[in-house]
Amino acid sequence: MSKKQTLVTMALPYANGDVHLGNLLEAIQTDIFVRVLRANEETCHFVSGSDAHGTPIMLNAQKQGIGPEELITKARASQEQDFAGFSINFDHFHTTHSEKNNYYACDIYNKLQAKGDISQRAIMQAFDPEKNMFLPDRFIKGECPRCHAADQYGDNCEVCGATYSPAELINPVSALTGVTPINKESEHYFFELGHYEAFLKEWTATDAVQPQMQNKLSEWFDAGLKAWDISRDAPYFGFTIPGTTDKYFYVWMDAPIGYMASFAEYCEKNTDINFDDFWREGASHELYHFIGKDIMYFHNLFWPAMLKGAGYRTPTAIYCHGFLTLDGQKMSKSRGTFIKAKTYLEHLNPEYLRYYLASKLNAGVSDIDLCWDDFTNKVNADLVGKVINIASRCANFISKRFDGKLASKLENETLFEQGVNAGDTILTFFKERNYHLAVQAIMRYADSVNQYIDANKPWELIKDPNNLEKVHLVCTQALNCFKLLMTYLKPIIPTIAQGAEDFLQCEPLTFINRNKALLDTTINRYQPLVTRVCPTKVETMQEQAKQEAAEAATPTLTGPLADFPLKEEISFDDFAKLDLRIVTIVHAEAVEGADKLIKVIVDMGGIEKQVFAGIKKAFSPEELIGKQTVMVANLAPRKMRFGLSEGMLLVASGKETLWLISPQEGAEPGTPVK
Ligand code: MSP
Ligand code: ZN
Repeated sequence: MSKKQTLVTMALPYANGDVHLGNLLEAIQTDIFVRVLRANEETCHFVSGSDAHGTPIMLNAQKQGIGPEELITKARASQEQDFAGFSINFDHFHTTHSEKNNYYACDIYNKLQAKGDISQRAIMQAFDPEKNMFLPDRFIKGECPRCHAADQYGDNCEVCGATYSPAELINPVSALTGVTPINKESEHYFFELGHYEAFLKEWTATDAVQPQMQNKLSEWFDAGLKAWDISRDAPYFGFTIPGTTDKYFYVWMDAPIGYMASFAEYCEKNTDINFDDFWREGASHELYHFIGKDIMYFHNLFWPAMLKGAGYRTPTAIYCHGFLTLDGQKMSKSRGTFIKAKTYLEHLNPEYLRYYLASKLNAGVSDIDLCWDDFTNKVNADLVGKVINIASRCANFISKRFDGKLASKLENETLFEQGVNAGDTILTFFKERNYHLAVQAIMRYADSVNQYIDANKPWELIKDPNNLEKVHLVCTQALNCFKLLMTYLKPIIPTIAQGAEDFLQCEPLTFINRNKALLDTTINRYQPLVTRVCPTKVETMQEQAKQEAAEAATPTLTGPLADFPLKEEISFDDFAKLDLRIVTIVHAEAVEGADKLIKVIVDMGGIEKQVFAGIKKAFSPEELIGKQTVMVANLAPRKMRFGLSEGMLLVASGKETLWLISPQEGAEPGTPVK
């Protein structure tokens, strides 16, 4: 039998927004897990992809005036780029809008159907008669039935936190068109989750599910498992349900199947990996899904039941994590606490974030706070101050005094052994997803190494030529301990570790080869592997994120507002200086030699004024005579080539044409306008 292998998946982010720091918490957690297994020479495959279906994506594409395919293609490329920026090492990043996914979605559906797990019945649902589509809860807005806050979404109130059904909203309107939705009947398809109650109760009580999640699940079992609505009506962006022409799989039906499809695609490119070895019922290889706590219902109930029903294997475990908060706040666009992966990358080293999050991640589901001051301190004090400094303190002696060559023995074998042995515990912490404990153990060892250096003081020893050999031994010892530290940190900070391998001129560091000391070998000159976090860069990034959030909240301007951007704000006093008056045009004539100007004489209530107005493209002089308009009466007279212009007529001036601003009939000339 072949050695046990592992398939690891990360939840498929929606193709409907940018990758943000919350997604990265998950990506980093998953990527570290994969890298740890590989560093232990275990075979591990890592797939994910882009979740491409559903109403929001369809509507978003419409809004941008492009097809959904174009939107999801761009989004997938952008997601891949963002994750690559943080060294997330997927073997394959797929999309749920693929032939393979369609194949497996239909395959699973057909098998469930054949077993009698699919039922059909008509339901009443909110329908937007203008847009001609059924409205998901999130697209209905109205007054909260509890606290009466206006403009709340169909499923919960952001003001008082109440949850309800859209039918309970007061004065509901469609968020798409503003019209009142009507109730309309439609035939839906359901997955009879209740058929799997016994199986689910048993499966969710195993190690496959975290203890905290088991408690949550038992609440759902107590409430009774309801059939799951897996169909949506046209128009929808998704796969049509077999045997129908206008019914689509609900996005959450084919999303987890995307894990299989992504892996199938990967197997096609790597023919030595066999799909069935991972997915057939009873498959011996392991399957782990990393997800956030908000989507555990889908992964702990629907997904295993679907797999079971369709005769596939069930997951080895669902690893659920909590949410990332920033300085104690939920990530929110409106509050400016939403940071995109791209924004972070413009200012800060991705390995800082990987290190910081690792130092906080654990196997539980509580939220994880990124406090930016703590981030700066921890990276600077621990990663740079304790670990990287070991190399920078010792490397120069080796390079300058010993031609880059390490000594031929360890000065303190016990200290090295101690580090090698710590690796077993560290590996266990990693595998249990208690990364924070792994980091603590690594830092404890770094402390011992620093104590060793401080006790021996190579910078003092070097002053006496008799101590040269001792300096050689102490620095060789410290660099070997540094190599161990880098081995353990490598899954967390792979790029820095790669730099360390280049510097140490050693083979790729793994848990397996960690006990081999580097002796009698040559190292490269030390180049800084990472610099300290600069607090002003953190601030600049936060500022930029705030600005981006504000821009995202303002609608994109079209028409005149786009052609003629709004001017800078003025004070009321500035405005009050303008003296605007009603005038009647009593005379108008073309100006010879000027193709834009009309000479106008206006009556301002007893006083006549002469104005040269650039309005010829829209009016003939004749049609102006007798019209009323508004004039800036206190504008300093301007001498023009054709005569004196004693004011300015108010005209709405678009890109193509002009409109005279006129009062209603009967306005008395000379009346001030304010
Ligand atoms: N498309 C679904 C997942 C389908 S998996 C078959 C989805 N997408 S998502 O883009 O909204 O979220 C992707 C993952 O990011 C989810 O696991 C979600 O829990 C996680 N996170 C989103 N915001 C997060 C935080 N603020 N913090 C931590 N994880 C967060 O759900
Ligand atoms: Zn409310």
